[in-house]
Amino acid sequence: MDDLKAKYLDLIGKADTESNLEDLRVAALGKKGEISLQMRELGKMTPEERQTAGPALNALKDEINSALVAKKAGLADAALDERLRSEWLDVTLPSRDRKAGSIHPITQVTEEVTAIFADMGFSVAEGPQIESDWYNFDALNIPGHHPARAEMDTFYTHRAEGDNRPPHVLRTHTSPVQIRSLEANGAPIRIICPGRVYRADYDQTHTPMFHQVEGLAIDKDISMANLKWVLEEFVKAFFEVDDVELRFRASHFPFTEPSAEVDIRCSWEGGTLKVGEGDDWLEILGSGMVHPKVLEAAGVDPSIYQGFAFGVGIDRIAMLKYGIPDLRAFFDSDLRWLRHYGFRSLDVPTLHGGLSK
Ligand code: PHE
Repeated sequence: MDDLKAKYLDLIGKADTESNLEDLRVAALGKKGEISLQMRELGKMTPEERQTAGPALNALKDEINSALVAKKAGLADAALDERLRSEWLDVTLPSRDRKAGSIHPITQVTEEVTAIFADMGFSVAEGPQIESDWYNFDALNIPGHHPARAEMDTFYTHRAEGDNRPPHVLRTHTSPVQIRSLEANGAPIRIICPGRVYRADYDQTHTPMFHQVEGLAIDKDISMANLKWVLEEFVKAFFEVDDVELRFRASHFPFTEPSAEVDIRCSWEGGTLKVGEGDDWLEILGSGMVHPKVLEAAGVDPSIYQGFAFGVGIDRIAMLKYGIPDLRAFFDSDLRWLRHYGFRSLDVPTLHGGLSK
């Protein structure tokens, strides 16, 4: 038995492939394997002989088995290491010549919007893109049965079976940042939050991921007039025109009361868009006075504080300002498109230096 053990442990140690190991297993422990044959001999032994030979053989069998299993795991590890070594890829390497890129219009417009609102005393806030049901809906006065949930074509994350907590969502708007910022800093507050949002929608004017900028101003004496002024200043600065006409249309959002959608006067003459003249109107944002329930949900006393909020589609206003016809092209990563519509990286938008020039 000692010979058998020494022989197989040695062979197992030297085996260098899984099929090698399998051959050894068959030779030792297979139906006609050496150890199996010995086991069969047990029947011919006297009871006394069997008492010592039986356990010894079983122990040998176990030991060979363990050695096989351990070696097999070792070989698998080595194979994986080898694969990791040979298939290694540095995903941080630039896939294209660094000089080939330029600033994406979304980045450019986000910078422009940030510069304009910074000038009016708004700071930039952020929030997570994977959001809880509470922040995306409930805290914004959108309870479980509310039709707005269905209308938003929400992407839900998956919960394990038996886990009955509401699933997280990919935020459908930047409005949850209103709650997060008020919770973190309280009132008074003046913030904007540019960022990605998600809805299950795809056609020429919708992509499943797009960008919004949220605005929130809360204080003791903020009115709808302040909202109107801020938005007019913003639109004039953004479109770089002296005169714009905005139309506030009564609307409905669960998180604002009253609510207004804002259209901008424009013309489409000759297929190009001009802002501030003409007979057409284009919707660019939703807004309103923050609903008392939203303030309450964020821990702010609505009998002391009130204010306004708005949400602008960044992609939308980028298309308008820079005459980009198809929204989907924004996210195609086509260098030719980017060279045409992109911006030089050193032209940082500022109000004094000119936003887009
Ligand atoms: N969150 C709204 C939307 O995505 C926009 C909005 C923001 C409206 C803030 C009012 C106030 O459609």
